[in-house]
Amino acid sequence: MVKTKQYNLADLLDNYEQIIARCTLIEQVSQAVNFIPNTRIIIKDDILLYEQEFIQKKSSRLISIDKKYQLLNEFAFNLDSLQSFNFVHGDINSSNVLNDGKTLNLIDLEPSFRQRKFRKKIVTSAVPLRSLSDIKNKNISLETDKIGYYLYGMRFVGKAVQFPNKRELSKQRKQGMEFLPIQEQLFLQLSFKEIFKKLIKPTRKTS
Ligand SMILES: Nc1ncnc2c1ncn2[C@@H]1O[C@H](COP(=O)(O)OP(=O)(O)O)[C@@H](O)[C@H]1O
Ligand SMILES: [Mg+2]
Repeated sequence: MVKTKQYNLADLLDNYEQIIARCTLIEQVSQAVNFIPNTRIIIKDDILLYEQEFIQKKSSRLISIDKKYQLLNEFAFNLDSLQSFNFVHGDINSSNVLNDGKTLNLIDLEPSFRQRKFRKKIVTSAVPLRSLSDIKNKNISLETDKIGYYLYGMRFVGKAVQFPNKRELSKQRKQGMEFLPIQEQLFLQLSFKEIFKKLIKPTRKTS
């Protein structure tokens, strides 16, 4: 089975060379690592067709907490391995991470971070959830992926970070306000694996 998505090239707001480079990278990365389903991108006339191996999703409710930490640990290791490709996902969140019971799979690989959807210009990853320096530089970098991983992980283990509604948070973030329990700069220097170790601490009952 395949998951397909279709884009009008005119709706992708990066220049053509950037889009081609991004698509080539997506294909390469998806072939090189196991946690990103194989993806093929075909451009025909003004249409871009995205075809991705379909992942059978398993419910996360039935997984033990230990297994969840194991999955998150492996996910961090896998995300660190992407660094050699210079690959930024841009929108790591629970709708884009699929648990198939064995692995946390990363999906939704956008051919362009800037797009037009339903006539509205949008940028991958909502402003409030982008790193402070990415907001300032109007950019999307690995820092935003690290915040995405952190928030995803906290939510996956049932300790979701609470924050005000997105509009309010967006305002605060644009003013440079922190919103994570740990100072952003501290963990943006860390690898995903270190973020896993430092920020997500299982509390175990001693028997
Ligand atoms: N490879 C896949 N295997 C299984 N389900 C997928 C796959 N890719 C996407 N989906 C499902 O479709 C939904 C939307 O796809 P996604 O690529 O995230 O597009 P969008 O840009 O609309 O967020 C996902 O949240 C997921 O439930
Ligand atoms: Mg998505």
